[in-house]
Amino acid sequence: MPTRPAPAEAGSSTDGAGGAPSSKRARVAPAVPVAPYSLLPADAPALDDVLAAAHAAGRKCPVPFRTGLFLAPMVRSGSLPTRLLSLQYGASLVWGPEIVDRAIMGCTRVVNEDTGLVSFVKDEKEIFTTHPVERKQVIFQLGSANAAWAYEAIKFVTAHDDVAGVDLNCGCPKPFSTIGGMGAHLLTTPDILCDVLRAMRRAAPPHVSVSCKIRLLPSREETQALVRQILRLGIIDNLTVHCRTKEMRPREPALLDRLREVVEIVREETGGKLPLCCNGDAWDWNEAKRIMEMTGVTSVMIARGAEANPSCFAPRGVSSIADEVAPQYVRYAAYFNNNFGNSKFCMMQFTLKPSSNFAPHAPVLPNARSKKQLSEVRQGMERAKTIEEMAQVFGVDVEAVRAAKAEEILAPVRKALEAREEGELKQDQELKKATERGAEISQETVAAAKQEEHSAAPSVQEPAPERPIVVA
Ligand SMILES: Cc1cc2nc3c(=O)[nH]c(=O)nc-3n(C[C@H](O)[C@H](O)[C@H](O)COP(=O)(O)O)c2cc1C
Repeated sequence: MPTRPAPAEAGSSTDGAGGAPSSKRARVAPAVPVAPYSLLPADAPALDDVLAAAHAAGRKCPVPFRTGLFLAPMVRSGSLPTRLLSLQYGASLVWGPEIVDRAIMGCTRVVNEDTGLVSFVKDEKEIFTTHPVERKQVIFQLGSANAAWAYEAIKFVTAHDDVAGVDLNCGCPKPFSTIGGMGAHLLTTPDILCDVLRAMRRAAPPHVSVSCKIRLLPSREETQALVRQILRLGIIDNLTVHCRTKEMRPREPALLDRLREVVEIVREETGGKLPLCCNGDAWDWNEAKRIMEMTGVTSVMIARGAEANPSCFAPRGVSSIADEVAPQYVRYAAYFNNNFGNSKFCMMQFTLKPSSNFAPHAPVLPNARSKKQLSEVRQGMERAKTIEEMAQVFGVDVEAVRAAKAEEILAPVRKALEAREEGELKQDQELKKATERGAEISQETVAAAKQEEHSAAPSVQEPAPERPIVVA
């Protein structure tokens, strides 16, 4: 079987057509000036009409943003096999990797009749792939700083009902994103950010959600002003906050206590109706639950935890990479003929550690392989040049996988999704309780903090002391 071309996402060096410059060029090229209000096609529906029709139809966002653990958008790492594994292990929504507007514009949509795979292809490059099994859970993330291009890109990607929602990346600090005015650069150009969101809402059908993912700004006031401006558009269905500023590196602890400043504005502007998702340093289900209890947010998004082990969404702790997760990854990758370079990259990010979660004191998994055995697995992975060689490391029969029917391959994902739809999952109920506890605690704490501020109000205006949402 021919090897599939590498998917072209923001930041990928194959993304020539997509307008994201290669990292080499990105370091030297000057910032591209961006027109604040680009013209949409004459037949684009007016936003007021779109919103009025949605209101008249009693539109409710069909995407379950309210409670759950979500797979974060991740360039390269968020390709289809990782998303399927995340759903299988308990993620309730999965974001695709950021794709730049011009990369998706002009693609051809190709459906593989045997596997059901839907690919958006341009110049023989796969720009985005998805499968109907994730149709209700997958969020397409757009990189854009141009309303006209955003409109066209979203119109195209939602035309065949392949995705549940579309999201605007307003948080990526990497030069390939910010250089075009996209990603985290949008945090400093809120008018453009809002202009793009409006265009996305005008382009997407009403049953497709529109959301955005931001970072914190340096000060509380700046963050609150930005969030207020976004919420006043009245068009987003979910807001995700990566609790770091643009300047912060991933190794610096996320500023989870600063989420409160966003919670306050969401309460003020929407009465708490807008789902707010917290992102940053949630490495697995237990950590996510702790963050919900601490902040009162209703949902948590995980990136690096899922990159290291996509079973991190499971409440029972992560599963063994060598024995369970990697073999399953190989099955999905082989069946959907995922580009081998991408599959190998993703698999090399896996943490082979034999413990049941990422904490250093975590108990070792029963029947875990020894360090020496795991090092042999790692060496085998490094040597693999084809999916067949990779499959051999994990004892997977690629020919049998390819001969299987899509239902057989996708059975673990379907089972997980059906259990969720029937509301049977104890893990969802537990998360809900954690959120409710968190919401109560945060409400009490905010009220107490306000009262304290009031009674001890300084005669000269001084900034109120920052305090975490939960008082230990
Ligand atoms: C490999 C990788 C790729 C990423 N790509 C994107 C992206 O395409 N869009 C985006 O909004 N954030 C992207 N991020 C940021 C993550 O979505 C997330 O905000 C960040 O890693 C913090 O979450 P964590 O602490 O759980 O890792 C990426 C992060 C990583 C590690």
